[in-house]
Amino acid sequence: MTQLPGLLDTEALRKDFPILDRQVHDGKKLVYLDNAATSQKPRQVLDALNEYYERYNANVHRGVHVLAEEATALYEGARDKVAEFINAPSRDEVIFTKNASESLNLVANMLGWADEPYRVDHETEIVITEMEHHSNIVPWQLLAQRTGAKLKWFGLTDDGRLDLSNIDEVINEKTKIVSFVLVSNILGTQNPVEAIVRRAQEVGALVCVDASQAAPHMPLDVQALQADFVAFTGHKMCGPTGIGVLWGRQELLEDLPPFLGGGEMIETVSMHSSTYAPAPHKFEAGTPPVAQAVGLGAAIDYLNSIGMDKILAHEHALTEYAVKRLLEVPDLRIIGPTTAEERGAAISFTLGDIHPHDVGQVLDEQGIAVRVGHHCARPVCLRYGIPATTRASFYLYSTPAEIDALVDGLEHVRNFFG
Ligand code: ALA
Repeated sequence: MTQLPGLLDTEALRKDFPILDRQVHDGKKLVYLDNAATSQKPRQVLDALNEYYERYNANVHRGVHVLAEEATALYEGARDKVAEFINAPSRDEVIFTKNASESLNLVANMLGWADEPYRVDHETEIVITEMEHHSNIVPWQLLAQRTGAKLKWFGLTDDGRLDLSNIDEVINEKTKIVSFVLVSNILGTQNPVEAIVRRAQEVGALVCVDASQAAPHMPLDVQALQADFVAFTGHKMCGPTGIGVLWGRQELLEDLPPFLGGGEMIETVSMHSSTYAPAPHKFEAGTPPVAQAVGLGAAIDYLNSIGMDKILAHEHALTEYAVKRLLEVPDLRIIGPTTAEERGAAISFTLGDIHPHDVGQVLDEQGIAVRVGHHCARPVCLRYGIPATTRASFYLYSTPAEIDALVDGLEHVRNFFG
C-alpha cells in the first residue's frame, strides 16, 4: 500500500463514515472522489441530527417551553462553534443561510439596497474573477443589471491562476466590491488573498471571499484574511445540506439593510413600517435551518477533533501524489495548476478527445464517483476551449489507493474508447 508523509490514519477514520462501506454496481467498492460537490457525513453528525429531532425539536427564539429553550440553545451554540472555527471577533457576525449561494446573494442584495457609502449604482464598479462558481457570478450580474454598475473581472493565466497583472486598473476608485473565490472548485487554484485585499483597501472597496472550497480543507481565519465578508457552506465540510454561513464585519452588518423580510428579523412592525433586530437576526428571516445548524456544529466538533492543520497536510500529500500519477496517464491534461503548491484538493482534467461524460460513466461502472461537466464554472471551460472536464476531489478520508484506483480506471476508459 502506498504510504505518504502527512497522511491521516484513514483506516480508523473511515469507520466513522458508514457510506464509505457501500458497494455499487454489483459489488464494486465505492471510490468516492466527488468531495468538492459534497462531502460524506460521519456518524457523529448523523447522530447529532437524529438526537436533535428525537429529543429537542422545536422552533427557536419563540417559545417559553423547555424544548424551545433547548433548541434555541443548540442553534445559538452552533453559531458559537462557527464563530470559533473561523476566528470571528464576535458571534453576532455569523449569519446562517441555506448555502454559500444564498450567502453571496445576500451580500449582493445588501449592497444594492444600501445607502452611501456602500451603495452600488451606475457610477460604481463590481470586480469578480473568471474562475468564479456561478454563485459568485450571477448575483453580481443581476446587481449590475439592476443598478447600472459595471461588472469587471480578472482573467486567467494559461496555468490556471489569476492574472493580476492589471490589478491597479481593474480595482480602482470606482470599485465598490471585489468578490472572489479562495480556492477554485474547478481549477483547484488557491488565490493570493493578500494582494487583492491590499489593493481593495487602497481604493476603499469592500472584499467578499467565497471560501466554500477552503473552509472544509484548511484552517480559516477571517481576521487574518482581512476580508469584509466570507461565505461558505456546511455540506462540503461533513455537515448536512441546507446550511450555509455568511460572516460579515460587525459595523457593516449594523449599517447594511436586510434582504429577506419576515418573522424574527424585526424589532417592531406596524402596518406602515418596521424596524429591525440587530445582526445576525436582521438577516435570518423566518424559521431558520435549526437541525442543519446543529449538524454543522457537530461537523465542526468532528473536524476540530482531527485538526484542520492535519486535514490540510493529508490533502496536500494526496494532491501531490494525484497530480504525479495523473500526469503519467497518456493524453491526460490537467486544467489548473500542475503543482500541489497553492492549490486545493480538486483536480480537473481532460483525457484526449474522450468526452468527460463518457469518462465519468465508465469510471462510475467501476465504482469510482467523480464529477463531470462545467462544474458551475462555465467561463473557465470557455477560457480553456473545452466543453467540460472530469474532476476528482479528495477529503480527509481519501486514500492513495483510491487515487491508484482512479488511474487504473482511466486506463480502462482509454482501452474502452480505443
Ligand atoms: N459547487 C459544487 C461543485 O463544485 C456543487 O461540485
